[in-house]
Amino acid sequence: MGLTAAGAAPALGFATQAAATPQAAAGTSQAAAKAAADSSLVFDPAAYTEQTVSVTDTAGAAHSVTYRFYKVASYVANPVDTAYQSLNVSVPVSVDGTAVDATNAPILFANQVGGYMPSSVANATGIGGAMGPAGTLSRQQLALAAGYVVVEPGARGRSLVDASGTYYGVAPAAIVDLKAAVRYLKFNKGRVPGDTERIVTSGVSAGGALSALLGASGDSPLYDSYLAEIGAADASDAIFASGDWCPITDLEHADAAYEWNWGANALASGAAVDATVSGELKAQYTDYIASLKLRARGYGALSVRNLDTYILETFIQPSATKYLAALSDTARATYLAANPFITWSAGQAAFTWADFLAHVGARKKNAPSFDAFDLSTGENNLYGAGATKARHFTLYALRHEAGASARLDADIPAKLHLMNPMYHLVDKVNPHRAKHWWIRVGTKDSDTSLSVVANLATRLTNLGDDVDTSYYWDAGHGADLDPGDFITWIGKVTGYQKARK
Ligand code: DHB
Repeated sequence: MGLTAAGAAPALGFATQAAATPQAAAGTSQAAAKAAADSSLVFDPAAYTEQTVSVTDTAGAAHSVTYRFYKVASYVANPVDTAYQSLNVSVPVSVDGTAVDATNAPILFANQVGGYMPSSVANATGIGGAMGPAGTLSRQQLALAAGYVVVEPGARGRSLVDASGTYYGVAPAAIVDLKAAVRYLKFNKGRVPGDTERIVTSGVSAGGALSALLGASGDSPLYDSYLAEIGAADASDAIFASGDWCPITDLEHADAAYEWNWGANALASGAAVDATVSGELKAQYTDYIASLKLRARGYGALSVRNLDTYILETFIQPSATKYLAALSDTARATYLAANPFITWSAGQAAFTWADFLAHVGARKKNAPSFDAFDLSTGENNLYGAGATKARHFTLYALRHEAGASARLDADIPAKLHLMNPMYHLVDKVNPHRAKHWWIRVGTKDSDTSLSVVANLATRLTNLGDDVDTSYYWDAGHGADLDPGDFITWIGKVTGYQKARK
């Protein structure tokens, strides 16, 4: 790999000398193409505009942040669609008039993916500024104000279809693109501002799933052919840390997980969920949880017999406790009077799993929630291929529609592995995974099972990784209730001491 544009020259010279046999010619023309491709991926440190943004911090105070804004037209040498395969880099120069040197700062790699849909930053004229869901602060802007480099990558998504009718953003396009963007940064180590050995990813929902997948699957060879196809830079795609909000992940087990969690809850419409379908899916969860071989102190081996109690006591009751402890005595008394299912004693909240489920109320999705019988979900589209918009990706839904001898399309199992962080943490434990994890979800989020996050966090903990997990009490899908803490955490896990000039 040539680290500079000049590095392409010797490789081309070698190609000319060695073209003696057909094999050598093929190999070396590939090498020449690769060198030429890599030279097109050289980051230009001078190609920025200087901008100023007002960033509101977690205390509500405004800060004036001046930064260099770079637009990288494509992070791959052979792009399919530069509207999506491009990225922006924001580098802080000064905060409230005090100079900042971000040369060795951590890099927040903030994907904007939602719904597994395409995500473009090509038309953005500055750092992403929209407030997050429910008025939460922009993670990117807080990171910039903290002196970190912020990279915002675009990525292909499931709905993209070309003139010939081919779906070109379905699985695994989005993760391949995000990995290519990471490779671009690492290939440009020393040219791109920031410490490319301290890349911290973030994302929410489908973006949270992709952030977790970036963390779990770093440098996995399973993606190599896809990365080669789009001309990704010759570099590592392993990341240092992963921040994942309400990740919609482990999709092939999510229907079973959903019925295990929300099976007793009604739909908001009042429509009944098919009890047979719900029961059959829930029954599948027994074997799946056993297969994960999760362990937790005080619980031993986790199974469907103790998973609810484990999640309740480890994540959900502490979430309520934290929420209630932060209220004034009057506000707490009011909340407890309105929610008599909670026992508040010695500063601790306690309640049963059944009462908690009743408190959450209506489930958001029908059964099956992800692999719908009528192929109507976003996930059915995610697993489309070629000219086929949507496919089944579980045997259960497929056989419900096509009969007991139906088989999944032959490419589906490998695509599931490419999209599922659990595969890289359980089936094929990846030594190159991120070792630091920030995992968040709201307790009223029924976009997927609350066990999805619990399984991910518990598996990572069992592997010995550094995992900071928290459930936000009474928060719904997409919430980020502690954005400032995430920024502080990045500083802590990366060991970065902010350099001021
Ligand atoms: C998202 C939400 C979903 O319920 C889902 O199934 C997939 C993605 C999202 O908000 O990104």
